[in-house]
Amino acid sequence: MLEVTDLDTFYGRAQILDGVTLRMDGGEVVALLGRNGAGKSTTMKSVMGLVRPARGRVRFLDRDITGRPSHAVCQMGLGYVPEDRRVFTELTVMENLEVGRQAPRDGVPEWTPERLFALFPNLAEMRNRPGGRMSGGEQQMLTIARTLMGNPRLILLDEPSEGLAPVIVEQMAQTIAALKTEGLTVLLSEQNLHFARMVADRAYIIEKGRMRFDGTMAELEANPDIRDAYLAV
Ligand SMILES: Nc1ncnc2c1ncn2[C@@H]1O[C@H](COP(=O)(O)OP(=O)(O)O)[C@@H](O)[C@H]1O
Ligand SMILES: [Mg+2]
Repeated sequence: MLEVTDLDTFYGRAQILDGVTLRMDGGEVVALLGRNGAGKSTTMKSVMGLVRPARGRVRFLDRDITGRPSHAVCQMGLGYVPEDRRVFTELTVMENLEVGRQAPRDGVPEWTPERLFALFPNLAEMRNRPGGRMSGGEQQMLTIARTLMGNPRLILLDEPSEGLAPVIVEQMAQTIAALKTEGLTVLLSEQNLHFARMVADRAYIIEKGRMRFDGTMAELEANPDIRDAYLAV
């Protein structure tokens, strides 16, 4: 479904990504793990057309999308929740959801506010509340729900557990598990190995803009040296 090959991305003259390669099949939940500053967000932005890689290719659904503008990439069914999740503070939960609405897509679950409220029960209780009057965790849920309104085939979640209270982290993990059950493909970036363990089938580890590990979660568990070298545990 997604094929990222040999990406080099620069900010100015600083090389941030060095030959990043990553592949995802439909229905997988994959974690992109790495410490702060490793290049996780830059990888996602390179896929989404928010920064232009100097070298390498991004293919989505067998089409080359390298450097395509992000709105075009979104319309193809690639959803993205950035780490600085932003809700429209003046708009209610319902209105925020409407902003994300896109036409239904063949072969992917079609989301409505009602279906999303079943998945995010606390949003259901505040459907008329302005985004600005929600907690950080609630806003995080809302940005994910809003992205789902676009009926994506694949969703990129940049550090979904970051800054959440432990009980909300558990809820987030359950939500991602439910999305997988719906058949959605998910790439999430994480520093939190504990969270990745709860949701991911496979993991990549990036450090200093290079992929250092690629394998199943079980293989990662069997390699404590890799974990200790590249992740803060
Ligand atoms: N807009 C930017 N301009 C210059 N350097 C940046 C910019 N964004 C990120 N970086 C640098 O790129 C590196 C990778 O950042 P990032 O992809 O955000 O890492 P991560 O998401 O893994 O924490 C870091 O060294 C960071 O300081
Ligand atoms: Mg980041």
